[in-house]
Formats: sequence, structure tokens, C-alpha cells
Amino acid sequence: MEYENILVERPVEGVGLIRLNRPRQFNALNSALLSELSDAFEVLDRDDAIGCIVITGNDKVFAAGADIKEMADAGAVEMLTRDFVGLFDRIRAVRKPIIAAVSGWALGGGCELAMSCDMIVASESARFGQPEINLGVIPGAGGTQRLTRAVGKAIAMEMVLNDRRLSAQEAYDFGLVNRVAPVESYLDEALELARSIASRAPIAVRLAKEAVNKAFELPLGEGLEFERRNFYFLFATEDQKEGMKAFLEKRPPEWKGR
Ligand code: HXC
Repeated sequence: MEYENILVERPVEGVGLIRLNRPRQFNALNSALLSELSDAFEVLDRDDAIGCIVITGNDKVFAAGADIKEMADAGAVEMLTRDFVGLFDRIRAVRKPIIAAVSGWALGGGCELAMSCDMIVASESARFGQPEINLGVIPGAGGTQRLTRAVGKAIAMEMVLNDRRLSAQEAYDFGLVNRVAPVESYLDEALELARSIASRAPIAVRLAKEAVNKAFELPLGEGLEFERRNFYFLFATEDQKEGMKAFLEKRPPEWKGR
């Protein structure tokens, strides 16, 4: 896969790695980058050899937000018809788990991109913020919604209204990120987490991701119903038979993804 604004690698068995690669623009997200990103996600999502996807920037910046140069002169109708933010919906549609490995700045659309993923591994230098208010706008790709669900109203209000930025440790304390690691090893930690997830029963992983995400979208009763039906459904898979048989035979299971 050849792209201009991102790099796609397969560094570990079962894991696809996407690197945002506009370092001179601090990985600012322009339409070309987002469109390549959505294409790469789609390709990796369809690839049976991939069980988990990691997205990262570089040690200094994950992404400094939407490309301000590209947006500055746009009108409302142009923003609507181009539907720049719609590309984030395609990330939401990815069925495999996605881990954001974040070091340095994750601002605006960059923070929203990280929050669109299922988990975040941060380096000690990671900084999260929604500084759109400084530009006379508000977050447009989940910053008011996902952030509030993750860190609660009090902190989200400060971040969105007053550009409060969170250190990696604060982001961990507030429940925004899964873990914090040294800059030298955060990507390896994210890749190891991805490898571990990719080694598990693929259909169960897919349904597990869907079910946890439903907790944010459905009322409790419907969410529980969704979970229960999928729990029952998994008894139609060979992997369920194998998983339980392997447990009883005291051996590791061999997943087939069927
Ligand atoms: C375009 C950007 C950019 C951005 C940085 N650059 N952020 N270009 N869009 N979002 C460019 C700068 O213009 C500069 O290019 C180079 O990257 C380095 O930036 P500096 O400011 O010189 O570096 P530094 O002083 O180290 O500060 C880093 C920074 C700062 C803290 C990340 O650049 C910053 O505050 N950036 C803007 C962050 C922001 O407001 N994000 C929200 C965007 S709106 P040159 O050519 O001058 O060297 C948004 C809405 C999302 O995200 C809507 C849904 C998708």
C-alpha cells in the first residue's frame, strides 16, 4: 500500500500499523490524509491476517488537529458538502480493535482521532487537548461527546471551553487512556497489546468490541439484550467449541476464526 501522508506496516504477526506521516505540519489532518487513512483502515479491516490495528504519529506529535490552512477560508456549505468530518465515521465502522499509540501533541482533531480508537496507549510526553475555542470554533469530530463520556463533564468543559490540556498522567487518572509508558517504549507496548488481542478468537473479539461500544449508544436494557444475543450466537462458532474443549483438556486453544 503506497500513500503520501501515512505509512502502513505489518511489524508484528496479526497487527497492522498506520503511521501518520506529515511531520513538518505536525501531522495536521488534511482531507488527503484522512482519505488515505480511511482507505488503509478499510484494507486492514478486510484482511483476515490482521486481528488488531495500531495508529500512531511520531514521538513528538500524534496529530496537531485538522489542517487549519486547509479549513481557514472554507464556508459552511463547503464544509458540509466536503463532509471532512464524515471520514471519522469510517473509522467508527472498522470492526477490528484499533489502538492509538500517542506521543506528544494530540490536539483538536488529533485528540478526536485518538478517542475514535478503542484504546489509547500514551507516552509520558503525550498531551491531550481540544483547543478549537482559540480558533473561534468548537470540536467537530467527537470532542464534546467522546471526551465528556471519557473524562466526565467537569474536565471536558474546561478542556473545550478553556483549552485545558491534559498531561499523560492526568489523561490516565481521568480514564482517557489505558496506560502510560516511557517515550522509548510506548509504541512497543501498544504493539504488544495489539499482538495479544490479535491472538484471540477473532469473531469473539469483533463482537466484544461491538458490545462494549453499544454501552455508549444504547439504553441499558437494549445493550444487555445485544450482549446476550451475541453471547448465545458465539455458541454457533467452531472457536467456542475449541475454546471450551481446550480449557477442559488443559491445552492452549487453536483459533480458526470460524
Ligand atoms: C496546520 C499546523 C497545525 C494545524 C501545527 N501546524 N498545527 N498546520 N494545521 N492544526 C504547523 C505550523 O503551522 C508550523 O508550520 C508547524 O506545524 C509547526 O508548528 P509550530 O506552531 O511552529 O510548533 P510549536 O510552536 O512547537 O507548537 C506546536 C503546537 C501548535 C502546540 C501543536 O502548532 C498548535 O497549537 N497547533 C494548532 C493546534 C490546534 O489548534 N488544533 C486544532 C485545529 S482545529 P510552519 O510551516 O509554520 O513551520 C481542529 C478541528 C477538528 O482540529 C474538527 C474535526 C476534524
